[in-house]
Amino acid sequence: MIYLKTPQEIEKMQAACTLVSQAMGEVAKLVAPGVTTHKLDTVAREFILDNGGKPACLGYGGFPATLCIEVNETVVHGFPSNYALREGDIIGIDTVVELDGYNGDMCYTFPVGQVDEKVMKLLVTTKESLYKGIAACKVDKRIGDIANAIQTYCEARGYTVVREMCGHGIGRKMHEDPEVPNYGRRGTGAVIRNGMCIAIEPMINLGSRNIVIERDGWTCRTKDRKPSAHYEHTVAVVDGEAKILTTFDYIQQAMGDRFI
Ligand code: MF3
Ligand code: CO
Repeated sequence: MIYLKTPQEIEKMQAACTLVSQAMGEVAKLVAPGVTTHKLDTVAREFILDNGGKPACLGYGGFPATLCIEVNETVVHGFPSNYALREGDIIGIDTVVELDGYNGDMCYTFPVGQVDEKVMKLLVTTKESLYKGIAACKVDKRIGDIANAIQTYCEARGYTVVREMCGHGIGRKMHEDPEVPNYGRRGTGAVIRNGMCIAIEPMINLGSRNIVIERDGWTCRTKDRKPSAHYEHTVAVVDGEAKILTTFDYIQQAMGDRFI
C-alpha cells in the first residue's frame, strides 16, 4: 500500500529531511583519519536529540546505533565501533531522523584523506547515478524507470549494482511501499504519482555485485571484499517532478574543497 502525502505532510517530511541533512553536516566535520566510527555515532545522536528529533535507526528491528557505518567493503547496515578511520578508506554514513512523526533518510559516502583514483571514480559515478534516478522520477513514469536509469548509468561505466538491497517509500514509517530497486526494466513497477515520497539509494560495487550478511545479522558487505559506494536522498513528487527533500549542502560546507 503506497501512502501518498498531502502538501502539509510533505512540509513535515521536509522538516525531518532538513534535520537529517544538518546532522550529516555535523558528522562530516569530523570525518578524518583517526576518528572512530563510534564517535561519529555519538555526535549524530546528540545533535538529533538536541534538535527535537529521534534517531530512527536506533532500536529499529534491533539495530544498535544512530548511524549505519559502511567502511570500504561494507555495503549497508554496519555498526559503529572503535575502528579508527584510516587514510584511503571510504565511509558511507546512512541515517534516518524522525521529526514530528515523519522520517527523513539519507546517506553519503566520504573519502577519508587521499583515496585511490579508481575508488574515487566509483564514488563520483554512484553519486551521479543517484541524480540520474531522481531525474527519472516523474509523474506517470514508473519505479522501474528510476531503477533502470541507475543501473544503465553504473553498468555502462563498469560497476555492478547490488540487487538484494533497495530504496523504499518513506513517510510516517522509515520503510513504506513501494520498493525502489537500483536495477530493472523501464515501464515496470508502480506508477509514480504526486505525493509519493521515496528514498532513492544506489549501492554500487567496484567488483562483483554479490553480497554476504555477516553473522551479526546486519552488516552487509561485498563477497569479494572490494569497495562499495552508497548515496541516498529522500524525495517527494510535487507538481510532477521529484523534489529533493534532503540536501548534501551541509556536507559540502563541512568539507569545503574536499567535497566530491
Ligand atoms: N537507509 C537505510 C535503509 O533504508 C537505513 C537503515 S536504518 C536501520 O535501510 F536501522 F535499518 F539500519
Ligand atoms: Co533508506
